[in-house]
Amino acid sequence: MIADFLKQETKNLHDLLESKMLVEHIMARSLSRQQFGHILQTHFVVHQHIEPKIKAMFSGELQERLKWDARAKTPLLQQELIENQLSQPDPIDFETHINNTDQALGAMYVLEGATLGGQIIQRSLRMNSNFAENKFPYYNIYGGDTGQKWKEFLGILEENTQIPKDVLNGAEQVYSIYLKATDVFVEAK
Ligand code: HEM
Repeated sequence: MIADFLKQETKNLHDLLESKMLVEHIMARSLSRQQFGHILQTHFVVHQHIEPKIKAMFSGELQERLKWDARAKTPLLQQELIENQLSQPDPIDFETHINNTDQALGAMYVLEGATLGGQIIQRSLRMNSNFAENKFPYYNIYGGDTGQKWKEFLGILEENTQIPKDVLNGAEQVYSIYLKATDVFVEAK
C-alpha cells in the first residue's frame, strides 16, 4: 500500500514539522494569537506556492475525481488571514520540482494528511481563550467528513500511483518547504 509506505518514510519529517509548528503550545493551550498568526502565514505561503503546481500535473478527469475545488485550501487560508487582521505574506519562490502526476500526488498527500491533525489542533485551540471568536476555516475544511475525505484521497492515490519513489519525492519536497517556511515565520519571531 502506497499510504503505508509514505507514512513510514515521512514519519520523521512529520514529527519534526509538528514540533516546529508549536504542537506543545497548541496542546498546552498556551499558544498566543501572534504564534497562531505565524502558523497561518506558514500554511499560506506553502499552499500558495504548491497548489497551482499540483493542479497543473492533474488531468481534468483526475481533478474532477479529487473534487479539486473543494480541496483547494489557499482561498480558505487567505480568508483566515483577513479574519485575523494578518498581512498576506509575499510569495516565496521555493525551489520545487513537481513534474509528473506521481510527484503531485505525493505533494497532495501531505496537504490532505494535515487535515487529520487539523481536527486535533482546532479542538485544542477552541479550549484556548485566545481564540474564543475563531472559526478555523482552514483546520475545519472538511469538518465531520475529514475521515471520509481522507479515505477517498487514499483510494485515488493508490489507483493512480505509478512510481512510489516519485510519490515519496513529492511528499518530501512539501515537508522540506514547510520546514523552510517555519524558519521564516515561526522560528524567527
Ligand atoms: C501541531 C501540529 C500537528 C499535529 C498535532 C498533527 C497530528 C497528526 C495526527 C494525530 C495524525 C494522524 C496520525 C495517524 O492516523 O496515525 C496526523 C497525520 C498526518 N499529518 Fe499531522 N499533525 C500536525 C502537523 C502537521 C503538519 C503541519 C503537516 C503537513 C503540512 C502534517 C501532515 C500530516 C500527514 C501527511 C498525515 C498523514 C499520515 C498518514 O496517516 O499517512 N501534520 N497528524
